[in-house]
Amino acid sequence: MVNRVMILGSINVDSIYQVTRFPQPGETIAVKQKSYAPGGKGANQAVAAARSGAKVSFVGAVGADNDGQEMVKTLAENNVDTSRIAVDPDNGTGSAVITVDENGQNDIMVYGGANQAMSVAQLNDLEQELAGTDFIVAQLETPQEVTLAAFKLARQQNVITILNPAPATELLPELLEYTDIIIPNETESSLLTGISVNDEPSMLQNAKFFKAHGIKNTIITLGEQGVFYVTADGHHGLVPAFKVNPVDTTAAGDTFIGALSSQLSPNLGNFESAITYAQRASSLAVQGMGAMPSIPLAEEVEKALG
Ligand code: RIB
Repeated sequence: MVNRVMILGSINVDSIYQVTRFPQPGETIAVKQKSYAPGGKGANQAVAAARSGAKVSFVGAVGADNDGQEMVKTLAENNVDTSRIAVDPDNGTGSAVITVDENGQNDIMVYGGANQAMSVAQLNDLEQELAGTDFIVAQLETPQEVTLAAFKLARQQNVITILNPAPATELLPELLEYTDIIIPNETESSLLTGISVNDEPSMLQNAKFFKAHGIKNTIITLGEQGVFYVTADGHHGLVPAFKVNPVDTTAAGDTFIGALSSQLSPNLGNFESAITYAQRASSLAVQGMGAMPSIPLAEEVEKALG
């Protein structure tokens, strides 16, 4: 069965600056190489899901500019249904400035533009589309009010809601109630729960916090340490990461989430195997430069899994 995934999220054009090391405050340093790539957490997750075989639709917004046209074209070329991407006449397409150091670590600054100007009005008649959907996935680069409204409609249609609380910020309390699976990294998780993530008991405490606020399933991504999950019935485990030498870790989390949504069974009975697949996809993505360009196809992930 092919998963039907709706992504509600951001679309950015990324400017990537490769440097030897990050500058100190007030310091000027030389850039080794500069490039542009399609990105945005929502768009990256959509492409990751589509390249792993899901049927993907996108709810988002771009500006009435060349970047917006190019981004919609790129998503369509990746088999993402773009019919619900609005063109905002008043705000430019989102963009990000990404600095990548020699170890593949990154710093990101994001201009929200059309992403941040999205409104609930854009969800008109979304029920019909949600009726044929397995998962809806959202992040925090678009307004939380819009995500909350979409998640409420999704709940009515028994669509599983997945929230990636990135970039980390305070959440609307009601959004937690309408989330079925939360996927933070360790920093985002501690920021939301107030409990630092450093060992298994602390991760279980984080999951307990989310459960008390209405979220039954927690998946915490831990970078090189792997992924920790707790399911609705309390089953939990750590799935180790694949060891690779990263060139650029941008979109590692996005690739994980998109790939996961393509593999997770809608009855949520295969957390461990879906996480293993998604980690493999992510481990391939970090071996290439740029967010979207480095997201692998299903064949590549399966070959790497062996
Ligand atoms: O998660 C990576 C993404 O974050 C980049 O593509 C950038 O656009 C920002 O949204």
